[in-house]
Amino acid sequence: MKALTVVPGKSGSARLDDVPEPPEADGPVLVETLAIGVCGTDAEIVSGAYGWAPEGKERLVIGHESLGRVAEAPAGSDLKAGDLVVGIVRRPDPVPCPNCAVMEWDFCRNGQYTERGIKQHDGYCSERYRIEADFAVKVDPGLGMLGVLLEPASVVAKAWEQVERIGSRAHWAPQRAVVTGAGPVGLLAAMIGVQKGLDVHVIDRVTGGVKPQLVADLGATYHMGAIEEACANADVVIECTGVGQLVFDAMEHVAPGGVVCLTGVSSGGRELGVDAGSLNRSMVLENESVVGSVNANRRHYEQGAAALAKADRGWLGRLITRRVPLASWDQALARGDDDVKVVIEVGT
Ligand code: BGC
Repeated sequence: MKALTVVPGKSGSARLDDVPEPPEADGPVLVETLAIGVCGTDAEIVSGAYGWAPEGKERLVIGHESLGRVAEAPAGSDLKAGDLVVGIVRRPDPVPCPNCAVMEWDFCRNGQYTERGIKQHDGYCSERYRIEADFAVKVDPGLGMLGVLLEPASVVAKAWEQVERIGSRAHWAPQRAVVTGAGPVGLLAAMIGVQKGLDVHVIDRVTGGVKPQLVADLGATYHMGAIEEACANADVVIECTGVGQLVFDAMEHVAPGGVVCLTGVSSGGRELGVDAGSLNRSMVLENESVVGSVNANRRHYEQGAAALAKADRGWLGRLITRRVPLASWDQALARGDDDVKVVIEVGT
């Protein structure tokens, strides 16, 4: 079967390969892949900056945002042939650490977790893949192709869960939220914020393209300026860019008792001048919190699936700005100015 593979660490090594059928060791559920979403992590892997091959192998099958149709499921699982499913990305570490032992692999403490399509475990960008029943999450069949948005939705569902758990340490009645970055993660974070009844403000740099209208159609407000101009006293900031200056601006301008959740992975290597003392002073005197959030466990996939199920399908459909057949995978990896989510169509 065909699969999109790379040699991690080696730029220019991505290619469409013929690979053996998926190994039984990956799990008893056989899935026919329908679509793979492309994100910044895939671009980093293909550029050679991130990613690890499975032990003893040179190449890694990429693809961690998936949608597939169950072809075979074991008796006794709640899956059956024909179900639309999304594969969970991370697998618990083998030790396991205290968090992985209780299915909180997204909080793995020893770094020995694996991630399908990213870290030491082949991903989903192959015509078929196998998976453990507990790691395949069913999506509302009415969503069809839009189910491919579940993985990024799970990541923002986790971010919102962190914000709420931290906010609830005291009386918590948030009203305003800022989301930095109007890419797929930012837009899905804004969507969940609006679903929670918050006044949501999204900040990005672009003036044209689909993003400003997507934000407006959510019932949120689009801005291009600084956080403090977009929304003074935001109770929540979900930072989705990884841009250092925005991270510090968020910490400086979040409301007293507010929560800043960092979801963007920065590349590093850039220094900023920060008045650390005054930042510390205001964060202490105003009980503010900053939390990093990555990945998602099964509960977050279920929260993400519920958020997608109640979203406007027309709006979700507009997040997918390009669909590219597997044979033209290289076009999917080349970022266009107007792209929000690009999807590789693997099957029908
Ligand atoms: C994925 C996460 C993963 C993270 C780090 C992100 O693109 O969505 O599931 O944990 O990369 O590898």
